[in-house]
Parts: sequence; C-alpha cells; structure tokens
Amino acid sequence: MPILTLESTCDETAAAVISADGTVLGDCVATQETLHEQFGGVVPEVAARAHVERILPVIDTALRISGVRGDELDAIAVADRPGLAGSLLVGVVAAKTLAVAWKKPLVAVNHLHAHLYACQMAVDFPVYPCIGLVVSGGHTSLYHCLSPLDLEYLGGTIDDAAGEAFDKVGSMLNLGFPGGPAVSKLAQSGNPTAFDYPRSMLNDASYRFSFSGLKTAVRYSIAPPGIKDFSEIQLPEQTKADICASFQAAVVEVLVKKSVRAVKQYQTKHLIVGGGVAANPMLRSQLQTAAEKNAFTLVIAPMKLCTDNAVMGAIALEKIKRGEFADLDLDITAGLQRGF
Ligand code: KG4
Ligand code: ZN
Repeated sequence: MPILTLESTCDETAAAVISADGTVLGDCVATQETLHEQFGGVVPEVAARAHVERILPVIDTALRISGVRGDELDAIAVADRPGLAGSLLVGVVAAKTLAVAWKKPLVAVNHLHAHLYACQMAVDFPVYPCIGLVVSGGHTSLYHCLSPLDLEYLGGTIDDAAGEAFDKVGSMLNLGFPGGPAVSKLAQSGNPTAFDYPRSMLNDASYRFSFSGLKTAVRYSIAPPGIKDFSEIQLPEQTKADICASFQAAVVEVLVKKSVRAVKQYQTKHLIVGGGVAANPMLRSQLQTAAEKNAFTLVIAPMKLCTDNAVMGAIALEKIKRGEFADLDLDITAGLQRGF
C-alpha cells in the first residue's frame, strides 16, 4: 500500500504519494520564491504562513494525481528535522492530524538524509555504503553513510552553507532570489580565474567547510568598504559574470576536494550528492571528472529532486521496513546546530 510524504522544512510546501516499491504515484510542490524575493532571502514567518495556506491544497493535489484515497494509505511520513521551526511545525501538525483522522501510523523523516536518498532513487544499484554530500541552502554536510538510515556525520560548514553563499552573492549582484541558479547561469560567460577568491579550509584536515570569508571577499570586489546598499551599484555585465565564475570556482573546488578525500579515507565505491546546490552544472561536471580520475561512482540526485520535494521522503519506506514509527507526540527539531 502507498504512503503519503510531506515536506515543509523551508520554503517549499510539498506532498507525494509513493507506493511500497518506491514508485511515485503523485507529487506536488508549491514554491514560495516570489514571496521571499523582495527580501532577498527566506523570511521564516512569511514561509510558515504560506505553508499554512498551501499544505492542504498540496496534499489534495498529490492524492488526486495518484488516485489514492486517504483511507487507502499505509502511513503518513513527514520531515520533522532540520529546518525553520515555523515551517516544520506546519508539516508535522498536518501529518499528525491526518494520522489521527485516517488512523494511520506516522513516520518521521530527516530532511538531509532524504536529500541523499534522492540519489538512491535515481539508480537501480545500491549506493550504500558511500560518502554523502548534502549541499543546500541551509546545509553543507559530509556523511559516511552505511545505509539510508545509518549516517555518520563527518563535518559541515561552520558558518554559511554553500547555497546560502550563492544566494548572498546573487543578492549583492542584484540577481534576484534564490541566487544559485542566476549566479551559475551568469558564471557560464565569466572567467573563473578573474578574481582570486579564498578557498577556506581547503587543506584543513577536518571535513569542516567555511564560506563566509569567500562571501566577504566577493562583497569587497563588488563595492568598497562603507557601502551598504548594493541596489544602486552598476557593474559591467562582464565583471558580474567574472565574479560569479570566480566565486563558483572557489566553492566547487572545496566541495570536490573534500568529498574526494572522504571517499578515499573511507574507501567507499560511491559518492552521492543531494540538495539544491547539486543542481549546479559546474559542481556536477567537476565531481564527474573527479569520479573518473579516482575510480568511484558518482550519483547525483536528479535535477527535479535536488531542490526540496516530498518524493525523497520515500526514505520513510526504509523506516517502515525497520518498524521505526513516530509517536503522536512527535515534535519538530529545528536543528540550527550543524551535526545533522
Ligand atoms: O535543497 P534546497 O531546495 O533547500 C534547502 O534545503 O536549503 O536548496 C536551495 C538552495 C538555494 O540556496 C539555491 O540558491 C541553491 O540551492 N541552488 C543552486 C542552484 N540551484 C539551486 N546553487 C548553485 N547553483 C545552482 N544551479
Ligand atoms: Zn533541502
């Protein structure tokens, strides 16, 4: 029997209906990009209110596409961590309510583990054990993954996440929100060596990352100290493209180098990569080159499953196999601490 999965960790409201063998029967994502664009970033309270408006229509749409009725479901799964507190609450409360109304068991999903599980969903061979890299708007984390549910956190960012840095650079260059897709598009016509930006912690023995120094370096190449309002700054298109290309090259170099080092240290055959920044074409191609050079298999989440969605909530099926259900007193874990 199928399950219903819900996702509302940040600024996408999503629901999916997935059969016991992992087939996606129905899927619906409502994005909030236009709501947050004017602020240049996700505003938590705005996001939470938008989730409240969207969660029921989104669930309804996913069920309608699937042709499955609520009472035909096997379980209700929901991402309960990590994310924005108000956003998480909406999904968790909806899931608990439906679990009670339809008398269905509840399954709690870790959003970051789900981002990695999206990679397993794309291929027909087992990717675990492997090294997993999550690169999203909120997280940059490396894991040694023994199975979909048994992950050892190796390290992550100590300040900005990779996607957050893309968004902030996009915002300083007035490219709109979210910045990642716009920065990577403009980078295609730029020179990646035009600006010599720092590769923080590149040679640090740990698996920690830092992107805030890079962001600050970009800031000073856009405007001199003292300028706070970037909306008035007019740079030549080529300079903007060169900044984007050089910034992107710095982020990608660090992500690739540390991921490859982890694959070698843990002697895994696979590297899996999920999260919104995994949609970045340069990251994808440089990881592929590294995989060929170092003889490991690279599995990147399909484009549609890189950014937030409920399909990757299929990881709940693994929990159901283990009999790991949540109680009705399930609470959210916002988890701004990094070790997720
Ligand atoms: O995984 P996701 O949808 O949300 C979180 O869980 O955070 O990731 C969103 C992030 C944003 O920061 C966005 O700018 C970034 O993914 N992103 C990209 C690209 N597409 C989305 N970053 C770089 N290059 C891209 N092509
Ligand atoms: Zn995410």
